[in-house]
Amino acid sequence: MLIFIDSANINEIEEAYNCGLIDGVTTNPTLLAKENQPVDRILKKICSIVKGPVSAEVISLDSKNMIKEAKHLSKIASNIVIKIPLTKEGLKAVRVLLKEKIKTNVTLCFSPTQAILAAKAGADYISPFIGRLDDISQNGMELIEKIKQIYNNYNFKTKIIVASVRNPLHILKAALIGADIVTVPFSVIEQLVKHPLTDVGIQRFLEDYKKIPKR
Ligand code: G3P
Repeated sequence: MLIFIDSANINEIEEAYNCGLIDGVTTNPTLLAKENQPVDRILKKICSIVKGPVSAEVISLDSKNMIKEAKHLSKIASNIVIKIPLTKEGLKAVRVLLKEKIKTNVTLCFSPTQAILAAKAGADYISPFIGRLDDISQNGMELIEKIKQIYNNYNFKTKIIVASVRNPLHILKAALIGADIVTVPFSVIEQLVKHPLTDVGIQRFLEDYKKIPKR
């Protein structure tokens, strides 16, 4: 399972990438707005750090302008993937971009049938938002299970990016289901690393090491 970082913050991306922990990046307008810099500049910087896929989202609602934006964004770097919302106009844009060999990540997916449409349109990635489903008392992980089964049934090539991840348990469940990718906020990447018994163990080893005679 690949791990992407769900962030537009250069410090977070650099730290996670330099530790060898991440394979790609996903951004969205909310994450970019936190950085208070022009979008193209941030994306260019991210793509200079990370060699894997970097998702950048269009904000237009009609396919014609989505395609125009996608063409502009894809010129920023060769590893840019265009995030397109799961709407009728969005799916139209995905079809056109497929022919133009521009990679797409269909976002804001909340149902298995939406995921079927994205795969049929030829999306490279689908991003089901599991945390936002959990937030309204629906089981986000069940959506991943269903999409995984459907994509297996029909041998769809679209890769599943588990998005809107809130905690390490989401990542564990995604791995057990066999999702292709999880996109994880920096704070959750840090939670993944930590275990209280690791800290206690290090402390005990250091204390015992001091007891060893030096000669
Ligand atoms: O980048 C898309 C997704 O991961 C957003 O997550 O936390 O805003 O629901 P969240």
